[in-house]
Amino acid sequence: MTSRPSRGSHAQPRRGTPSQDDRIRGLAAIIMAAGLGKRMRSKVAKVLHTIAGRPLVLYAVDLAERVAGQGVAVVVGHQGDRVRAVIASRSKQKGSESVAIAEQAQQLGTGHAVMQARHAFMRERREAPSAYLILNGDTPLLAEGTLRRLWNLHQTERATVSILTALLEDPTGYGRVVRSDAVGREGQAKGKGPVVRIVEDRDATPSEAELREVNVGTYVVDARFLFEALDKLERKNARAEYYLTDLIGMAEERGLRVSALTLRDADEGLGINSRRELAVAEQITRRQINLQWLEAGVTLHDPMSTWIDADVTVGPDTVIYPHVALEGTTSIGEDCVIHAHVRLTDCVLHDRVLVRDCCVLREAELEEGAIVGPFAHLRPGAVVRKNAKVGNFVEMKETELGEGSKANHLSYLGNARIGRGVNIGAGTITCNYDGVRKQETVIEDDVFVGSNALLIAPVTVGRGSLIAAGSAVSEDVPADALAIGRATQVNRPGWATRRRAAHNAGLLPAKSKPKSKPAGKRARKKVRKRK
Ligand code: UD1
Ligand code: CA
Repeated sequence: MTSRPSRGSHAQPRRGTPSQDDRIRGLAAIIMAAGLGKRMRSKVAKVLHTIAGRPLVLYAVDLAERVAGQGVAVVVGHQGDRVRAVIASRSKQKGSESVAIAEQAQQLGTGHAVMQARHAFMRERREAPSAYLILNGDTPLLAEGTLRRLWNLHQTERATVSILTALLEDPTGYGRVVRSDAVGREGQAKGKGPVVRIVEDRDATPSEAELREVNVGTYVVDARFLFEALDKLERKNARAEYYLTDLIGMAEERGLRVSALTLRDADEGLGINSRRELAVAEQITRRQINLQWLEAGVTLHDPMSTWIDADVTVGPDTVIYPHVALEGTTSIGEDCVIHAHVRLTDCVLHDRVLVRDCCVLREAELEEGAIVGPFAHLRPGAVVRKNAKVGNFVEMKETELGEGSKANHLSYLGNARIGRGVNIGAGTITCNYDGVRKQETVIEDDVFVGSNALLIAPVTVGRGSLIAAGSAVSEDVPADALAIGRATQVNRPGWATRRRAAHNAGLLPAKSKPKSKPAGKRARKKVRKRK
């Protein structure tokens, strides 16, 4: 994986949205993503499992879109509706062309899966594909350059079928690539002769099983050959499935050329069949992502503990401290500082934003110069405008804090529109829920809200006004007014003196016994010491 999209103008140039020119004309892509993935031991279809926050299937879709000029079709089956939804939301997000979906109601094998895409590219006024790129939906580490090399090989060798292979120490589980000169030679990793066929792990003879050159599950197949050959597939194998891999043997038998490109880095061909492989692939991906951002001018003080999801973007000269997770579609501008133990999910941070330690933010936007934390919780719809400050133990939800305004300590601000230059005193709470609906609080510019105020929504506090500390405000406050909504204080002169005297004379009632058990030994000791 070499590139990911970037939304900020400052982030790396995006290679996510392909220009038509970069794509290979005449090439259409088919992605097989209908299987459940039994070996995952999961209720969730395999291709929906995520790596660096992105579902497996989208790695294949992204890649296919970048190279295939004739469109992309995904074959769905298990939890097809969810797979469809994931693909649709991505297309919408990126504004990219729609991806065709083909249904495979029953999973009868990879050959059967591809058959389902037969009509996916038959669109009006569109050239029919001359070749198909076929991808397993569970191979997320494949790089674009590799596919282009495979395509070039396919062209230069005038092949009918071209496959990607890898040399593995342990080829268990993969289909083995049988070359004309390889079988029967003990321990030979890879023959030099032409590829004759692919034999699946379960069908391999002991000597075939020893072959270490495996089928990655990435193919380029000529259009004239593909569907005609698929129609002739049989299910005579250990799994009684239609194997796509049988096409290789069929082409060879007809004297058609089969070429093979061997991966330089076998990791790229890692197929995800188990959680273990998922974890391995995730680690490789996360490392690649971090390296990319380091190269793009982002400081990661501890890359080993930094999590950056595949669709996140970060601007140069931003500094990230240990144990930070940047998730989903979060985008961060230039010159920001993100301190330790911060989690940002689907957030937008403009330039020069400071997030102090231990903050959790989701779907929040922080404008230039905003300062948040430590220990702030910003929930969806929280917007902190330019140079505004949100301090410790402040929770915000669907609330806008205006330019230069401050909410520095211990507040809940929900469904509120707060103007510029406002000071929200410590402990201020917007009482936004009336038991049925969420109600809005409006605080206009330059308002001073004293500590521990309750703003009982719906309520509007007019521009330049002042709320006395400890007030419960349920009536609108006019501009420039002072609002006091609390019990009036009463001072009783001499009252304390009289009480002391009564106490000394033994006239006050005896101390009532505590209801709870006395404190433990340790606590008692402490008390004694203090005395
Ligand atoms: C497949 C190859 C094997 C190769 C390996 C590489 C076949 C027969 N075998 O084996 O040679 O070494 O990939 O990773 O192709 N799928 C469908 N419909 C089906 C069956 C599978 O859409 O009926 C999809 C799966 O969702 C998955 C992909 O095809 O994304 C591969 O299927 P999987 O069962 O993982 O194949 P492997 O056994 O790994
Ligand atoms: Ca697989």
